[in-house]
Amino acid sequence: MTRRFLVTAALPYSNGRLHVGHIAGAYLPADIYVRYLRATGAEVRFICGSDDNGVAALKTAREEGKPVEELTAFYNASQRRAFEGLNIRFDIYGGTHQPGFVEIHERFSQDFFRKIYDKGLFTKRTSKQLFDVQAQQFLPDRFVKGACPHCKSENAFGDQCEGCGRTLEQTALLNPISVLTGTKPELRETKHWYLRLDQLQGKLSQWLASKKDPASCGAHWRPVVINQSLGRIEAEGLPERAMTRDLTWGVPVPLDDPDAKGKSLYVWFDAPIGYVSFTAALLEQAVQRSQVGQLSELPRVRQVSDLPKPAGSSESCSTYADWWKNPACKVVHFIGEDNIVFHAITWPAMMLATHDSDSIQGAAGEYQLPHNVVANCFLNIKFPGKEEEKISKSRGTAVWIEDYLQSFAADPLRYYLTAIAPEAQRTAFEFDDFLARNNGELGNALGNFFNRCISFAHKYFEGKVPPAGDRDDADRAQLARCREAVEKVGAELEACRFKTALGEMMALARAGNLYFDQTKPFLSRKTDLAACARAINLCLQTARTLTTLMAPFLPESAEKAAKMLGLTDHKTWTAATCELPENQPLGEAKVLFPRLETEA
Ligand code: MF3
Ligand code: ZN
Repeated sequence: MTRRFLVTAALPYSNGRLHVGHIAGAYLPADIYVRYLRATGAEVRFICGSDDNGVAALKTAREEGKPVEELTAFYNASQRRAFEGLNIRFDIYGGTHQPGFVEIHERFSQDFFRKIYDKGLFTKRTSKQLFDVQAQQFLPDRFVKGACPHCKSENAFGDQCEGCGRTLEQTALLNPISVLTGTKPELRETKHWYLRLDQLQGKLSQWLASKKDPASCGAHWRPVVINQSLGRIEAEGLPERAMTRDLTWGVPVPLDDPDAKGKSLYVWFDAPIGYVSFTAALLEQAVQRSQVGQLSELPRVRQVSDLPKPAGSSESCSTYADWWKNPACKVVHFIGEDNIVFHAITWPAMMLATHDSDSIQGAAGEYQLPHNVVANCFLNIKFPGKEEEKISKSRGTAVWIEDYLQSFAADPLRYYLTAIAPEAQRTAFEFDDFLARNNGELGNALGNFFNRCISFAHKYFEGKVPPAGDRDDADRAQLARCREAVEKVGAELEACRFKTALGEMMALARAGNLYFDQTKPFLSRKTDLAACARAINLCLQTARTLTTLMAPFLPESAEKAAKMLGLTDHKTWTAATCELPENQPLGEAKVLFPRLETEA
């Protein structure tokens, strides 16, 4: 049976450019995972887009003196270019407030809200919120800054503390200050709708606990994700959380209630629904493309059984349900560490709140809770002669993707960020280390292996795959190494251990070089041509396997490698050890990973 996956990467706020930390955190591992899954024959949709609503964009728009629509459109486009340049290929890149998406996104978000409302899982409450008298407005979320009541970090905002990652009620902030005017806000009464997380807590803990054991849940949840979210529930329980805000930039609260006037859904309520609304937009586009008879690059999506929906509801507009409400499809979210609570608690709670059944995971026709939530730690940066530090826009310690792409190709960065992936703890980007690994590991081990085998075949075997001959034990051992590498890299990728997977691929490249050195075709060429042919044949078989194994990590280089080997399909995982036939013509030998110089 064809496996089906819906993979998402955290929607970046459209108030800034992307830097290496973003890429290492969520987007690159997600892209590698998607490429791998597709190579195994799985049907995959890869969804992303910008997180446009809420305070983040409003705040930057104020600072840059631009209308918020213009700002978010600008950064959405900048993000697209960065992803494109790094060959991070989503099936769709939407935006929660972008033209072409805002309507469908609003519809999905409002339906979601109403469904939860109808289930009685919101309470309307009067509370006191911080109000900026000078600016004459309430100060939701990042419009107010202060010290964290838990960890005392000065870097806490109205909804979340950057220091300890906890979600906050703004009234708990110590010494709150308005970000708009720098004045001390006062408390004023307002009304909001609170999600009854307390009611969902039991189910959520049960669900999270079931993810501890890979053998029983079929997914490899990273301990940090389970510990942080389950730990939160066990330590503090889940208080109700306001899901609306005193803001007009966002999705309007869809209630016929005078208290809802001028209010929007909380950005963390509507943003994850973006994953769903962009999926629906993608499917609508696919339908439109096939209706106008254009060649659609996407396979037509099968219509699936969904619970009957009232006509006119957003749910009848497409087959998004095939991906989101079908237990046969696995939803996998890639995120950074600051997003764990939202993806492992709040978002699953929102989905649970829409369920009619008692099923923990979601019955057929209901939103399915994620199969896995894959979180990376943050990436730090290290400058020569300085301590490792946080990546920061304001301190100018970021490496921006659009700048990087001015000087370098995608694959060296894809390699480096996977080799140092902050999977279990923070790691640091070091420019010299990036150069050294490109030249040393990619160039000397992987690139050079291709180059030496293919050049040799051009020089002495008329540019063709020489005969395999009678293989000896050393040859058989090398073939076994290829098979093992395919298995190991596959198993590591299935488990979302990208760094180890890359290491296993590179180990095969080194084994290939060692085999070349030990069989010495450069000597046997003069003494035993059959032995020489045998060795080069096996080197080329190893290169063939490597081409498939490197493709998820280094897609551009894998294309080049495939051309050199005369391979037409290098992506299919199960064909990684299908041998190149004798006499197959080879392409021109090319340098896969040119040396990069320090003064770039
Ligand atoms: N914009 C958020 C961030 O950058 C991530 C939103 S992810 C989503 O931290 F689930 F809400 F979409
Ligand atoms: Zn804190």
